[in-house]
Amino acid sequence: MPKPGGASAVAHPNIAFIKYWGNRDHLLRLPANGSLSMNLGSLKTQTTVEFDRQLKTEQLRINDKDALPEQVKRVSAFLDIVRQMAGIEHFARVDSQNNFPSGSGIASSSSAFAALALAATRAVGLDLSEQALSRLARRGSGSASRSVPAGFVEWRAANTDEDSYGSSIAPAGHWALEDCIAIVSEEHKAIGSSQGHKLADSSPLQAARIASAEARLATCRQAILQRDFAALAQVTELDNHLMHAVMMTSRPPLLYWQAASVAVMHAVNDWRAAGTPACYTLDAGPNVHVICEAASADKVATQLSEIPGVVRILRSGLGGAVQSLD
Ligand code: PMV
Repeated sequence: MPKPGGASAVAHPNIAFIKYWGNRDHLLRLPANGSLSMNLGSLKTQTTVEFDRQLKTEQLRINDKDALPEQVKRVSAFLDIVRQMAGIEHFARVDSQNNFPSGSGIASSSSAFAALALAATRAVGLDLSEQALSRLARRGSGSASRSVPAGFVEWRAANTDEDSYGSSIAPAGHWALEDCIAIVSEEHKAIGSSQGHKLADSSPLQAARIASAEARLATCRQAILQRDFAALAQVTELDNHLMHAVMMTSRPPLLYWQAASVAVMHAVNDWRAAGTPACYTLDAGPNVHVICEAASADKVATQLSEIPGVVRILRSGLGGAVQSLD
């Protein structure tokens, strides 16, 4: 019987080139399609978990504030899985800190549940394999499965819990890309991705998106392995448009773009036509992730900051795997 105690871990959020949107099983978070992303090394979530038999309820602090009831509920449901694995019953004290704004299109849930999965399992004395840890992180947030391994990570779609996990297709040092995130709003989104995944099938376009996802995954994997920016740009923007087309045609519709988001998309297309290796993708929020080759990142960031409506730029290169701090 493991002795409950405390443990800390740090994880990076990731940005997907090929997006996860919609589940084949909502409870297990088994995705409708495979996805592919890169970890963002400069952005971090650091989480400490301590199981304590004296506690009468779960205690969760995020960025030095008491968490909202719905956040506590989600973390508690996740910790139930860990408690079941370890055969313990007591509650935990969880403290989580992000060095970036959460809730507006920078997938804080990816790094949050990757760090939580590692800290919580270490705190109960479990030492999981990368695969098992990725599967566990997936139960908290699908994209968190991709923040467990290092660098460029593919999360395969599968019909069972055992077979759906992320694995690295190339290490962080494989290709010097940067994500220049054009922040156009730091407000929390009205409909988060957990609810959004449930709406995906209400769009008549989701079936077509899913049917063609494997081909885009193969193109994207190849583009990354060959460091072919033109191919990566084309498939990333196509996949992004397909996901947002599904969002916009769901019932109720989800329209995450702001005027400034669209202005950035047009500008990036113009820059690429003029020879700058840059392309864009947006998650479930208005901020635009502009992926570029690192050599062009200073120029891209400066030009982005000059677009009206862009509040600030966050920048990050590739990142490694989730790490234990103990
Ligand atoms: O992991 P979730 O449930 O927050 O879903 C992530 C969904 C997107 O960020 C929009 C796409 C993706 O693949 O990261």
